[in-house]
Amino acid sequence: MSLVAHSLDVIKRLQSPTGAYPASPTFSAYRGYSWLRDGAFVAEGVSRHGDVAGADAFHAWCARVVGDRAGQVDSLVSRAARGQTVPVSEMLPTRFTLDGMDGADEWWDFQLDGYGTWLWALREHSARHGKAVPGAEKGVRAATRYLTAFWHLPCYDWWEEHVEQRHVATLGAIHAGLRAAVALGVLGAAEEAAAAEAAEGVAALVEREGVASGRLRKWLGGDAVDASLLACVVPFALYPAGHPVGAATVAEVERQLARDGGVHRYLADTFYGGGRWVLLAGFLGWNHAAAGRPAEARRYLDWMAAQATPEGDLPEQVSDLLLAPDRRQEWLDRWGPVATPLLWSHGMYLILADELGVRA
Ligand code: BGC
Repeated sequence: MSLVAHSLDVIKRLQSPTGAYPASPTFSAYRGYSWLRDGAFVAEGVSRHGDVAGADAFHAWCARVVGDRAGQVDSLVSRAARGQTVPVSEMLPTRFTLDGMDGADEWWDFQLDGYGTWLWALREHSARHGKAVPGAEKGVRAATRYLTAFWHLPCYDWWEEHVEQRHVATLGAIHAGLRAAVALGVLGAAEEAAAAEAAEGVAALVEREGVASGRLRKWLGGDAVDASLLACVVPFALYPAGHPVGAATVAEVERQLARDGGVHRYLADTFYGGGRWVLLAGFLGWNHAAAGRPAEARRYLDWMAAQATPEGDLPEQVSDLLLAPDRRQEWLDRWGPVATPLLWSHGMYLILADELGVRA
């Protein structure tokens, strides 16, 4: 079976009857949970390969889970409007149990990017297949009000770290999500105007404080790069591939973080020793493909495929080239072997395969 066919099969087989995509079915720390961030990219992958029903079910699940929290969103928004500082612990969660509950395990739970990424993926899916996901309106409107009110707050990043910072990849996801929500055409007039104004605020802030040496920075005011910034170019287009800042960001991430087809998260990474991430090779390849460099994109697709287990499953990261080798064992002891299969890795494989015309 090709890796495209296997990826579609793994994702379909593991999708919960509720519509949720588990991040990784057996990995100790992720088991039983679905992330908006991971799931949105998984849904984008299967949507591109014709699994319309699977993507519909995921988006309907998200809409229900977020829509069920519309009351919580409105109370958070009105507390903030009255000048109260809402504690991070009372914001919406980062991940949900497969049946849509908050879950009882401790997590790094205030992350805004997933809400934006979900709205972005929903809009891509709806536009691609020329139809709305039924019943999504309440969830879309709640997510939009949430992002409109809180986009400016520091929160944990894609890697669930540094809650004290404002992360540029997070801002890119929020910007894409707010624009997608407007394009979906289900917002009220006041919600739409506020969302559009917030999106402009995000772009202006990143332009002012998120650019250093002509390329994006990992967080406002910092100097490091992070591979999650690739998404600010393709697909989020905060700085499109043709913009000098977009092009310079992709080039700098590749220069600092890519090795022989695989991509590290950031230079100071110590998680499982800081290996190369399969899904990040997908983002870098996607950027090359979208910028008209198919041969470079193909190199990343081939590297991703070469990391599959004999059964065809893709891991979260591979450990042959580590940034911090002496930090690997502590994670093996804490959480066990690297998450495999990681559905987000398969989702990114599907996206990049589609960009390059590789089908099942
Ligand atoms: C990663 C997140 C990811 C989660 C589930 C974490 O280790 O930092 O980016 O969303 O795993 O896959």
